Amino acid sequence: MRILGIESSCDETAASVVADGTRMLSNVVASQTALHEETGGVVPEVAARAHLRALVPVVRRALADAECTWDDIDAIAATAGPGLPGALVIGLNGARGLAYARGLPLIPVDHIEGHVCANWLDAATGAPSGHGAPPELPALALVVSGGHTELLLMREHGRFERLGGTRDDAAGEAFDKVARLLDLPYPGGPPISHLAATAEVRKLRLPRAWLRTGDDFSFSGLKTAVLHLVQSSDAPPPAEIAWAFEESVVDVLSQKAARAAEREGVASMLVAGGVAANRRLRERVVERSPVPVHIPPPVLCTDNAAMIAAAAFRHLDDAVAPESPLDITPTAVRRGRRFS
Ligand code: KG4
Ligand code: ZN
Repeated sequence: MRILGIESSCDETAASVVADGTRMLSNVVASQTALHEETGGVVPEVAARAHLRALVPVVRRALADAECTWDDIDAIAATAGPGLPGALVIGLNGARGLAYARGLPLIPVDHIEGHVCANWLDAATGAPSGHGAPPELPALALVVSGGHTELLLMREHGRFERLGGTRDDAAGEAFDKVARLLDLPYPGGPPISHLAATAEVRKLRLPRAWLRTGDDFSFSGLKTAVLHLVQSSDAPPPAEIAWAFEESVVDVLSQKAARAAEREGVASMLVAGGVAANRRLRERVVERSPVPVHIPPPVLCTDNAAMIAAAAFRHLDDAVAPESPLDITPTAVRRGRRFS
């Protein structure tokens, strides 16, 4: 079964054809990074209009790369949320129009579940720790991106329990904001990571918000600590600040995820979302986790549509007729069927 996935929740317009929820036949991602660099972050309306311009060429490319015609496609999936409302509307309604024209079922997909499902793609199951097999369930999922920091107990596909999440900034948002403080470009994760790797002295210790009574996270205090440091008269070199910041984020994420995995008695640990591309985080989670760790290759950690098609394959029963009423879900569904 071939599903065409479409993703447009933030600043990447993406389309991908995935066979049987695992085999990626194409993976096209048009990034708007250059557009948002000047403002140091995503301006929602600018993002929505860029999706509008990019959607059709990206879908065409995804079909061409997969060497597919429309006759080879069995269903169309698109991100319904969470994400920026204007951006979501473009992708979901575009998908709906295509589904209507082709008489295909339409599968709305939760973006966070998409990130988790990237771990079922063939390109992920062999890497990075070489298990070579799909993750075993139940699993503990740590989803860390620009918009989310979620710790989820995944009992089976489509059945998630939310254990905790950030109370303020998402982990990726903290990287992006600290990058601005250090005069680094947007998105901040990769440049902070590169700068941190050049730090000569590795002694600086920045605060860690453990919030020990639960599985929640907080990164705003850390960001403020960096601000004070940068403004101080005897500020350490930026590379040392970047290193200390990255260590603090990675320490908290990896330790809290490992403890939750142990407590819940899961069979595996899944890490996903843009921040999962971070080399230090990947190392630390693997070191600390009591169970086998699955993390997609970096290109499938950041936003893409293969993960949306992979998730859709597990939700064929949720397919709707394109002419049926449909809405986006811009904020995460914290309670209810998917994230109870
Ligand atoms: O999943 P994603 O592409 O989009 C959202 O759903 O938000 O994640 C983007 C986020 C950005 O905040 C970016 O700075 C962060 O992921 N990111 C990283 C790295 N690569 C991307 N953070 C830390 N280290 C990285 N290597
Ligand atoms: Zn994302």
